Amino acid sequence: MTRMLLAGAALLALSVGASAQTIGFSQIGSESGWRAAETTLTKQQAEERGYTLQFSDAQQRQENQIAAIRSFVAQGVDAILLAPVVATGWDAVLQEAKEAEIPVVLLDRQVDSSDDLYLTAVGSDLVHEGKVAGEWLAKEVGDDKCRVVELQGTTGSSPAIDRAKGFRDGIAGKANIEIVRSQTGDFTRALGKTVMESFLQAEGGGKDICALYAHNDDMAIGAIQAIKEAGLKPGQDIKIVSIDAVPDIFQAMAAGEANATVELTPNMAGPAFDALEKFWKDGTVPPKFIQTESKLYTQADDPQGEYERRKDLGY
Ligand code: AHR
Repeated sequence: MTRMLLAGAALLALSVGASAQTIGFSQIGSESGWRAAETTLTKQQAEERGYTLQFSDAQQRQENQIAAIRSFVAQGVDAILLAPVVATGWDAVLQEAKEAEIPVVLLDRQVDSSDDLYLTAVGSDLVHEGKVAGEWLAKEVGDDKCRVVELQGTTGSSPAIDRAKGFRDGIAGKANIEIVRSQTGDFTRALGKTVMESFLQAEGGGKDICALYAHNDDMAIGAIQAIKEAGLKPGQDIKIVSIDAVPDIFQAMAAGEANATVELTPNMAGPAFDALEKFWKDGTVPPKFIQTESKLYTQADDPQGEYERRKDLGY
């Protein structure tokens, strides 16, 4: 594949300037504040670099993403960005893009397909994110007994699979910490709230829960609402650790209602476009994984300031 793509890239570089490129972007949907920011930044970056961006919102459905990719292939776009809703089921459509010599860059989530079916993947180490969250909780509770409830991301998505594993790695060896309930909240605020309500009901109104681990901030924010409505204090009666670092979670942290978040940058497009530009220019093949940073923030890390810094960034 690499040889075919290189030849294609060289021809492309000769025939059009880098700024004339058309890029198809198959986005998952708008399930979270983080996703909205990724969409905004991708559109901004494309505009700044003079690309034409064909944007397709899949509304959380893999079949819509597959149809969008087929349409991008039929149009003969210069590259495809794909944020894959789930990890499996991509082989056939990625093969079609490969046969059309269109480089595909995965954004923020991984696929189970062979890595010769895409050019590169930009994202964080999703297992590490979960581990950072688990280690934070382990340190926070020390030797105290702690019953944890977990709000998982979209079933079958790579962040749901990896963040679940990473958290368990982070609390490994701590017999005092036990995950007592785990259910998907599909990365949305609304389901985060609904599922947390059922957790609270099942766990003595919440008095038997020591901590919530949510695979993203939006579900944590929904859960905070449920905890307050149950008459408990989120962040105190129930500790809350989640992932993304969206402005709203910093507001909750500043109010003492959330405890920690692990940052996932929404700027996946920047490194993706940098890699594509080099590839188009002279065929430079990027590494298969371009890793973005994951940073832990707690209430001690100026949450109000972090909120102010992020609030106008498209979340
Ligand atoms: O794939 C990244 C995850 O998808 C984000 O953490 C979550 O908010 C989003 O929906």
